[in-house]
This record gives sequence, C-alpha cells and structure tokens, in this order.
Amino acid sequence: MLSREDTELLTRIGPGTPMGALMREYWWPVLRNETVEADGAPTRVRLLGQDFVLFRATDGRLAMFDEGCPHRGASLVLARNEDCALRCLLHGWQISVDGKIIETPNEKNFRHADRIDVRAYPAREAGGMVWVWIGDGEPPSFPAFDFNTVADPEAQVLPAGMYLNCNWLQALETLWDPAHQACLHNQDNAVALAFEKSEDALFKRQHPELTISNIETVSEPWGFRRHCDGGPRLNGDGWVPTVMPTWHFTGGLGPNVDEDDRVVFGHVPIDDEHMLLWQIAYNPYRPLGEIGRTLCGRMPNADDFRVPGASRENNWGQDREIMSNGSWSGIGVGYGVAGILTQDAAIVEGMGAIADRTNEHLGAADLSIIRGRRMMLDAVRAHMRGEGALGVDVDVAGIGLGHDGTSKVGTPDLVS
Ligand code: FES
Ligand SMILES: [Fe+2]
Repeated sequence: MLSREDTELLTRIGPGTPMGALMREYWWPVLRNETVEADGAPTRVRLLGQDFVLFRATDGRLAMFDEGCPHRGASLVLARNEDCALRCLLHGWQISVDGKIIETPNEKNFRHADRIDVRAYPAREAGGMVWVWIGDGEPPSFPAFDFNTVADPEAQVLPAGMYLNCNWLQALETLWDPAHQACLHNQDNAVALAFEKSEDALFKRQHPELTISNIETVSEPWGFRRHCDGGPRLNGDGWVPTVMPTWHFTGGLGPNVDEDDRVVFGHVPIDDEHMLLWQIAYNPYRPLGEIGRTLCGRMPNADDFRVPGASRENNWGQDREIMSNGSWSGIGVGYGVAGILTQDAAIVEGMGAIADRTNEHLGAADLSIIRGRRMMLDAVRAHMRGEGALGVDVDVAGIGLGHDGTSKVGTPDLVS
C-alpha cells in the first residue's frame, strides 16, 4: 500500500510539482519522427501537463514552442508552417524556427518584437522518434540508449506508441509486476500469436508458472534491476533493468527471433491522467530480424496501437464467447502484440485515472513494485533537496537484454 500523500508525490507531474520538476530533467520522445513533415501541419504535443506546438521547418529543422502565440495566445497548432517559420492565423505574427519574431503585420513598427522571448525547446531525432527537453537551463547529455545510436534507425528500430487514459506510473507498475504475464497474457499470447503457426511461437516458452519468489533488486546509477524465480523466462538470466525516468527493458523477443532483437518500453507522462506508452523493438547490431519486425510491426496504427475501439465503455472489447472457447482474457485476440498490450491497457485504465493505492494488499510477489516506487520516491526527495536527478548524464549505452537474457552490463553486485 502507498499513502495518499506518497501517491500524490509520485504521480503528479504538472508544473510546480516536485515530481514534475524531476521529470523535467529528462529528454522525452513524443512522436514518431516520420509523422512530422517539413512545412507540414504543426502538431500539438502535451507533455508533463503543458501544451506545445511541434513542427518541422522548410529546411528540415525541428522546433517546439509553447502552443499559445506570444501576441494574444492563439493556438499555433493552427498556424501556417512556411518559410522556416510559423505564422499565426489571427494577426499573422511570424516566428522563425529558432524562436525570433520576424514579422508583426498588425504593428508595422512594433519596437518590442525583438524583446519577446519565444522559447524554442530543444528537439532532436533518434531511434525513429522526436525527442524534446522542456527543463530549465541547459539540457543534459542526450541518452545514448542503444536504440538511439544504431547506424541505420530505419532498419534497426521500430517504435510504436499507444495513448493511455491513466497516470504514467500505473503502466510502469504493471511492467514491474513479474507475475502478471503468466496470468493476464496467459493463453492469449499463444492465441494472439498463432499466426506464427509454430510450436515455438513467440512467448510459447512463457510457461504459466505464476508463483513468483526470490525477488532480488539491485540499485544502479541509472535506476535498478530485478531478478526473480518463476514467471516468464524470456530473459534468460532474468535481470530486468528499469532505467530512469521510465524505461523498462523486457528482453529478447523469444525463440525463432534474431537473438539480438530486443524490446524496451517507455512511459511518457502527458499529464497526471494520460500517458504515451512506447514499445520500441530494436537490434543494436544489424537490421531487425524478419519475425521481430513482423511481430512488432503488425500494429493497427503505429501512432496509437491499441486495438481499435477498445475502451472503458465497451470493457476494452472483451469477448465472453472467445473466453468460453479458451481465451483467458477475451481481450485483443487476433491482434498480436497490440492485443497483448491492449490487455494491459484494460488493466491500467480500469484502475482509474490515478489508482488509489491506499487499499492495496501487496505481498512478496509484489516486491518489485514496492522497490520501483521506493526508487522513485527516493529520487524525487533527493531532487527536492537539491541533489541531481537520478540517471541524468549517466552512460546508458549497452543496457538491455538479449534473446538469452544475457545482461549486457555485467553481473550485478548483489551487495547493494
Ligand atoms: S494572437 Fe497570434 S498574431 Fe495575434
Ligand atoms: Fe502486460
């Protein structure tokens, strides 16, 4: 259980909140980069409870401003995007890609234009995504995750996003929970992935061993790693890294898949009650294998891959007839990986926008969740005391798990 006060401290990420201040220390991916075209429609980005406009200028540069026009606040999502600048629809103010006011047609001799500060937030592309930074001062070093540094992102990285109507921590807690795969996703993994037509289909080895024991966690300069007995053994040696702020590496994609194809999940807080979940399949060394690419590429929509129409209103499309014919959850059947993640969506959205943790009854199998929360609470309290943000400017290259689960960051020291 978590007290109401600690829940508030952990989950609230808007401007002026302690966790919001910590979260503003990190770079966040907000869109797939190919959705942002030069001179194309500007895109509204909501991140950590703030609204922005993101666009690609005529010359290909990316820029992100606050959404409201500096003149009188009209939305710049509606603006014209041309000549390496946004031009507001209301009175035609023109703001260059680097944040300078270059024309104010309603005020021919407007003398204050050069004193208006339009903040151009740092934005860059990596791993097939657009990353932004909205903190104060100078941005920290860009995180050198393997999926950000591959030689050929188009061939080696496959990012896909899903919007969730709940707080960011809920989804991360579900990934921290090693017992749920074997239950929630149990038979549906085999059903959902039956198109493989193989006895060795993805997750087949994910035996329904539900009992979790011997959970161990180890602190790292970038977060923590977890090991346990029982549950799915996709990860071989089973050490699962959680990297600040919200990255969770789940290991190899399974048998029959290129042994270096991997998956990582990221949880981007849009505001207190909405988040963007990234599933990023990648291969650090060569193009993603065909099966990995097919499995993770088979999304209904790479920009919002939930099973179409699945929502609280229809119990996330749960089909009781399919359940009586052998499916455990009746959710997302036939949609492959997107179906499995829609099962997670049903669970985390079903807990409410911000889950009440005061009535929980956690046991030893939930130790990883307790550990994850403690890391976050320690991190936010340290930040409140003026200490640096956990994991910022720490080398994260090589963190991940391969097909056989071999940890790429060495054998952890179990003392800590
Ligand atoms: S509000 Fe944008 S130019 Fe006036
Ligand atoms: Fe899950």
